[in-house]
Amino acid sequence: MSVEEKGYFTEENSVEVVTSRNANARDARLKQVMEVVTRKLHETVKELEPTQDEWMEAIFFLTRTGHTCTDWRQEFILLSDVLGVSMLVDAINNRKPSGASESTVLGPFHVADAPELPMGANICLDQKGEDMVISGRILDTDGRPIENAVLDVWQANDEGFYDVQQKGIQPDFNLRGIFRTGKDGHYWFRAVKPKYYPIPEDGPVGQLLGALGRHPYRPAHLHYIIKADGFETLTTHIFDPDDPYIHSDAVFGVKESLLAEFRLKDDAVRAKELGFHGPFWQVEHDFVLAREKNANTESRAGASGTL
Ligand code: BEZ
Ligand code: FE
Repeated sequence: MSVEEKGYFTEENSVEVVTSRNANARDARLKQVMEVVTRKLHETVKELEPTQDEWMEAIFFLTRTGHTCTDWRQEFILLSDVLGVSMLVDAINNRKPSGASESTVLGPFHVADAPELPMGANICLDQKGEDMVISGRILDTDGRPIENAVLDVWQANDEGFYDVQQKGIQPDFNLRGIFRTGKDGHYWFRAVKPKYYPIPEDGPVGQLLGALGRHPYRPAHLHYIIKADGFETLTTHIFDPDDPYIHSDAVFGVKESLLAEFRLKDDAVRAKELGFHGPFWQVEHDFVLAREKNANTESRAGASGTL
């Protein structure tokens, strides 16, 4: 039996020795994942040649990351966000047909049970911030309005915190709401102009950003999840293009197509109609949903079934 056949571990054959041990893996995808991860990880170690102390520092960093996770805080997702991995997974899983709105990260502050509100409702419940009215249409890729599309929207308050970060300080469901479109696919609601805010920075991920000379800020944005029967669910944001952090989002979530226009309006008549007391911000932004792939496949299967 040769040395290779005996499977003794050497610096040179490390990848083969480890991956060949997984030959009987029950799950082919797990086997493939571990083969790639092992190869890339060994490549990294061979290139960096860490000292034992450096390797332990990496282990302790990951340990602290795990210890920082609670029922409401996921430090590993935050790590994936600041490494650009969340956006990469999002991009791979949301390749859209031409003309459809682009997706971006979900983030940790969505809540599942926000109230459904009448179109035009004001989602700002703490009376803080600069008034804003947001409107637009939900369309298909042929430009037709989508009826019964459900928009779930949420944003941080004027001080850069989501309601769930300030329980007992902000009213429950402050700056959140669910809206349903009618026949014309139109939506509108009132809110306040969002501000930039830092991602949670009091844990190991914040320390890593600090050590790398990176700031923790996300540029001002509003979150949307838009669902409609027969269409792919769109998880996205709109961003303020004039935000100081628009070109350096801590989690790489900005895409050019997601920049909205925030216009400052000084129109006393319109302000009064909207229940505002002075100048206000106006944002108009349409969203285009891609048809569900399965819906197409089914209709194709149905069509071929009739041949
Ligand atoms: C957010 O936009 O809510 C967010 C996204 C990623 C990390 C932290 C916050
Ligand atoms: Fe956010």
